[in-house]
Amino acid sequence: MTYEKMFFIFFTKTMITIFFFLLCLGVSDGTRGISYEGRREGKWQFLLKSTGVVSMHMALTYKNTVIMFDQTGGGPSRYLLRKRFGGRRCSTRSRKDVVDSTCYAHSVEYDIRDNRVRPLWLDTDPWCSSGSFLSNGTLLQTGGGYGKGAKRVRFYRPCRKNQQCDWKQSKNDLTDERWYASTQTLSDDDRVIVVGGRTVFTYEFVPKMSHGEKSYNLPFLHQTNDKYAKGNNLYPFLHLSSDGNLFIFANRDSILLNPRQNKVIKTFPRIPGHGSRNYPSSGSSVLLPLDHRYNFQKVEVMVCGGAATGALRSAGKGKFIQGLRSCGRMVITGNKHKWDMEYMPQPRLLHNMLILPTNDILIINGATHGCAGYNNARNASLEPYLYNPNKRLGTRFTILKSTKIARMYHSSATLLPDGRVLIGGGNPHGRYTFHKVAYPTELRLQAFIPYYMNKRYHNFRPRNLTIESYGGGKIYGIVYEREFVVRFMVVKFGSINNNKIEFSAYAPPFTTHGLSMNQRMLKLRCKRMMKISGEWVSAVLEAPPSPHVAPAGYYLITVVNGGIPSMSEWIQFRHA
Ligand SMILES: *[C@@H]1O[C@H](CO)[C@@H](O)[C@H](O)[C@H]1NC(C)=O
Ligand SMILES: *[C@@H]1O[C@H](CO)[C@@H](O)[C@H](O)[C@H]1NC(C)=O
Ligand SMILES: *[C@@H]1O[C@H](CO)[C@@H](O)[C@H](O)[C@H]1NC(C)=O
Repeated sequence: MTYEKMFFIFFTKTMITIFFFLLCLGVSDGTRGISYEGRREGKWQFLLKSTGVVSMHMALTYKNTVIMFDQTGGGPSRYLLRKRFGGRRCSTRSRKDVVDSTCYAHSVEYDIRDNRVRPLWLDTDPWCSSGSFLSNGTLLQTGGGYGKGAKRVRFYRPCRKNQQCDWKQSKNDLTDERWYASTQTLSDDDRVIVVGGRTVFTYEFVPKMSHGEKSYNLPFLHQTNDKYAKGNNLYPFLHLSSDGNLFIFANRDSILLNPRQNKVIKTFPRIPGHGSRNYPSSGSSVLLPLDHRYNFQKVEVMVCGGAATGALRSAGKGKFIQGLRSCGRMVITGNKHKWDMEYMPQPRLLHNMLILPTNDILIINGATHGCAGYNNARNASLEPYLYNPNKRLGTRFTILKSTKIARMYHSSATLLPDGRVLIGGGNPHGRYTFHKVAYPTELRLQAFIPYYMNKRYHNFRPRNLTIESYGGGKIYGIVYEREFVVRFMVVKFGSINNNKIEFSAYAPPFTTHGLSMNQRMLKLRCKRMMKISGEWVSAVLEAPPSPHVAPAGYYLITVVNGGIPSMSEWIQFRHA
């Protein structure tokens, strides 16, 4: 090899490294970039006149369907079946069948692309239950209702169109009845923890850690229980910290539990202010995005809204007290813990908190007065809020476009892979009630379309995303810490946000009662990035370091160009 040639190779290698390095920080084509000011309000899309079934619970699957379900004890829904669970026929001509609620669906599967629902069959009642996705994408649904449903474990294995997948009941029951319990996927492969429930001050694992294992007492649930207000600590907020420990928030207090040793290892300060945050006070909570720049070790929790002290009793007398306006943020890693408080534009309860691919928090649905429970809330919150966690205090909330449809008790919401947010449900009554009430049963399905889907950002929206293993080829799961490649097209590079192209991985939640169980957003590390040809860009990303940071399972990968996200694609993080 000649000296010139060697030099040339050295030179190109160095240049490529520098080139790659620069590009990972940001790609810019010199255009002026994106201006959003005053244009963040978004819009609403009407999808279906009726889902037939109240969407009290909602979960997006990796087959791009959304599972929705209600209680089975709420009488006939608006989705009449030809056959009952178990196969016996239902007749529209039989007066008995027409009022028999087993002749109606109580769960549906929504196909996002076709904008259609098909019925699913439930045997026992999953009313006010909890859910988590397993590493293979199967939904594990736990408890709900009272009586027969409360100890049940059900599976829903998502399928492609026309495969007619349905609910399956597990042979193994829970140890305790779990009504208004919460669940979180743990970092051990495919184990979830189910915490609390009405008058149940314990937690348990599914599957069990060992043969014959029962539930574990958790005095914290006793201590936070307000027995004169139906608990005020039900549906506790659970978040998996990136050290594998579990953050549990109930009423106004919170702890960190080591689930392997069954030991409370931290007690955090009480959140300031009055009122309560958990059911039936029904505020909401979110784990803020975990960032690779802190090696995912800065873990911060946010709690917003809830009901005032005495709200339940007052609602019983027809008086609806104003809810809480305050939000608290606290870093739960490290050893200094303090709630930093701030205020939403209006009081809010019964709302959802969803993390958008931009890493902003969307606060949507809910009411300003009263609390959870039948007919206990008034004054629907029709305007969503966008919360930017990184802005200066006092400038973080933006009020978005309002809807005309009230979504209060028993409503739900979830982010879709195309960037829209699906909104369903709402029913403050024990049965399907459409007339002579302040807030009728709500079966209409809507989507909220955030600003980033506006036409004016189309050229900034990365598109044609494909995910490949490093070295090429289609992949079936990405192993922790390994590199993988994301290829996409960008017409125009955004120069807002320091020219940044960012990458995120999102575990979609199981949502109900304002909770988004297992929701998790990770900002991934980009190792190298290059323009390949024309508008094509290729980026080498690093999978999260461990299942503590991201439990094994399906995640949505999104490329965010100067604040404008692509449509998302599914990948699976898995063990080697
Ligand atoms: C996923 O795992 C669960 C529990 O082991 C099992 O019941 C289910 O059938 C599996 N689903 C798929 C898609 O393999
Ligand atoms: C709540 O709604 C009622 C009736 O719809 C209205 O009279 C009242 O002004 C509202 N209160 C607030 C604080 O918005
Ligand atoms: C990119 O995706 C769009 C659909 O979103 C498709 O029409 C187009 O052909 C794709 N382009 C390439 C080069 O793959």
